[in-house]
Amino acid sequence: MEIARSLQNVPSSYIREILSAASDPSVISLAGGLPDPDTFPIELMRSTFEGLCDKPEVFQYGTTAGYAPLLDFLSDYYQLLSNHSAVVCTGSQQGLDLVARAYINPGDTVVMEAPSYLGAMQVFGLVGANIVTVSQVASGPNLEQLEACFKINAPKMFYAVPDFHNPTGVCWTLETRQKVAELCIQYNVAFIEDAPYRELRFTGEALPMVSTFCPDHSIVFRSFSKIASPGLRIGVVTGKKSYIEPIIKIKQGADLHSSIPMQAALLGLLKHDDFDAHLESVKEIYKARYQTLFEALEAKLPESCTLNSVDGGMFIWVGIPSCDTFELAKVLLSKGVAVVPSPVFYPEANEQPSALRLNFTNSTPEELVKAVDVLANVLSEHQ
Ligand SMILES: Cc1ncc(COP(=O)(O)O)c(C=O)c1O
Repeated sequence: MEIARSLQNVPSSYIREILSAASDPSVISLAGGLPDPDTFPIELMRSTFEGLCDKPEVFQYGTTAGYAPLLDFLSDYYQLLSNHSAVVCTGSQQGLDLVARAYINPGDTVVMEAPSYLGAMQVFGLVGANIVTVSQVASGPNLEQLEACFKINAPKMFYAVPDFHNPTGVCWTLETRQKVAELCIQYNVAFIEDAPYRELRFTGEALPMVSTFCPDHSIVFRSFSKIASPGLRIGVVTGKKSYIEPIIKIKQGADLHSSIPMQAALLGLLKHDDFDAHLESVKEIYKARYQTLFEALEAKLPESCTLNSVDGGMFIWVGIPSCDTFELAKVLLSKGVAVVPSPVFYPEANEQPSALRLNFTNSTPEELVKAVDVLANVLSEHQ
């Protein structure tokens, strides 16, 4: 049977291939965006999971928007405005897919930063969006380019990850957040704020979300994958009710609703007295690993390489001038280290700055140092 035209142009995911190679236990993988399984708060969920056996109602079909007690809790937790609502999704990735399907007609323009999150490029690509990019600088998107792009292309939405971007780790400044919100209001562009790493800040103070400056022009995606566990598959999408209702309609056709027992388990976790302490300990662990990786890279890589320091998240972006990073990733994999080369994070295949994305959350400090030794050796041989 012929596959749908929308799928025919989608290349097989390099990430999927490299992740399957990286699952070999002898490989040190800095390739995925995986949390450390030792941080999963399983003990904090144990009593809730056991208690579910006395709640047969959570094993029945539920409402599409989500498990009502969780929705009530999240509404307070995120201090949703009175004209806003939430829908619980099967991971924030499903939320992205639903938004793309609810709002994008083939040819509609979606703006993204370059580089950008691969999973978002995939869902917007599948619905036939015209993806237009603006470059990213240390403070966030290039604002001049962004305004010119809004003027010329009249996009429907601007998708971005302002807190600890995947893949670069960049965190937008306050000024950039305010200016982007202003531009979205001025040019009537919906701001799609994807925030799965926001709670993983290990240095400095949290900045307001972009959506707080344009609440009625934005849709916000939050994920519990990085602060609880990805296997729960729970994310939440919020925004003004008229933005959320079409998403609920699409979700009904997609999967009726996300798993109610998992939503109940998440609620028990979020209400647990020790949840905040859990979050603090995860951030401490990731901060130490980040520092180990950053210091090793600083000490051992050639001076021509550039490093972005980060205040949170899961990734370091290493610029490696004049390098075929696909080839480099292949050589590294043959030596037992998995990384992701930069071109996969750009929607256009033309010449892109060469860089590697390195994850620091799913390897031990010893593995991180070993991986940097391998990278430094390969780069010095290459030179
Ligand atoms: C930027 C970004 N958005 C969304 C997701 C999807 O997360 P979830 O596990 O909530 O589906 C990821 C996953 O790594 C991500 O990096």
